[in-house]
Amino acid sequence: MKPTQLPKNPCFSSGPCAKRPGWTLDALKGAATGRSHRAKIGKTKLGEVIERSKKVLGMPSDYVLGIVPASDTGAIEMALWSMLGERGVDVFCWESFGSGWATDCKSQLKIADLRVIKADYGKLPDLSQADWSRDSVFTWNGTTSGVRVPNGDWIAADREGLAICDATSAVFAMEMPWEKLDVVTWSWQKVLGGEGAHGMIALSPRAVKRLETFTAPRPLPKIFQMSKGGKLMGGIFEGETINTPSMLCVEDALDGLKWAESVGGLAGLVERSQANLKALEDWAAGSDWAGFLAEEKGIRSSTSICLKVKDPKFNALPADDQAKHAKAMVSMLDKEGAAYDIGAYRDAPVGFRIWGGATVETQDILALVPWLDWSYSEVRKSF
Ligand SMILES: Cc1ncc(COP(=O)(O)O)c(C=O)c1O
Repeated sequence: MKPTQLPKNPCFSSGPCAKRPGWTLDALKGAATGRSHRAKIGKTKLGEVIERSKKVLGMPSDYVLGIVPASDTGAIEMALWSMLGERGVDVFCWESFGSGWATDCKSQLKIADLRVIKADYGKLPDLSQADWSRDSVFTWNGTTSGVRVPNGDWIAADREGLAICDATSAVFAMEMPWEKLDVVTWSWQKVLGGEGAHGMIALSPRAVKRLETFTAPRPLPKIFQMSKGGKLMGGIFEGETINTPSMLCVEDALDGLKWAESVGGLAGLVERSQANLKALEDWAAGSDWAGFLAEEKGIRSSTSICLKVKDPKFNALPADDQAKHAKAMVSMLDKEGAAYDIGAYRDAPVGFRIWGGATVETQDILALVPWLDWSYSEVRKSF
């Protein structure tokens, strides 16, 4: 039967993600539009994004945090380009984004001593292969496969190399073991539902030391430079951005952070995301057609929740037909206003990806599941 109740907010995209509950354009009223980001008003707001982020995330006081150009990609690339090459590099990857960083290390940075430790979609690579005399690059949450690193136990506390972590779909929804991480990057449009534009980069004292003692053997564009004459460019980490930010996006980031504080800070955000995963897990446990791409519970993402079809009749269909049916379901749900943007990532196996980050209400996930069942029963009529 076709469900009658729609999710209040059908935005389940994995980026840009749903705005926080109750968000309207009024949230941007106080934006310092038309003002210089270097004036007191602009710089104060940028500094406030940094300070509130550090506080909500419980970042160690000796870590620095900066706002940088080009979203998460900009943040992680500036780390790779400016820090790698001092020693061997391991890249752990298990989906599209991590694989992209491995390709950059190989083909762009031409790291001579490079190991790429891989796994297929739905699985985690063998983390015990980590060699902490080397630098390691990895995502915390593989957004396109719904597989996350379960914890930081595999990262050596006494490491010599740097742990460089693209954490864009994890930060604010998952506990991060900061002491085990030297570079952590994210963007604004994920768990707090901000506007896409800028990246955030957190550096441990060891990462700062790398920037101050190592000169990368390659040209570095201005937007990748974090040190000058052997000194960290400290201003970047106090709100003096390298280039011009959007003050509307800054205001929106502040709105997201204030909302995060109002729902109980990090613990509240993690709880909201976990509740979303649980709602889908409870439903999938009783489903005869849907399952998780990440079969192992401990590595399952609570933000980018990736589902596959487990019905043997579906899986016996030619790959093109499977893709066609999944696409038809996604279009049907979009048309009904039940769910937007839930198709699996273009390079991932056929299926669905439902964002379960903190801005998504569990009530909306609960309202979505009958629609998933309905859309499957509709396409199932044809095979
Ligand atoms: C793990 C991961 N890395 C990188 C990116 C790219 O981020 P951005 O578009 O913010 O540069 C994404 C976007 O979804 C992501 O999920």
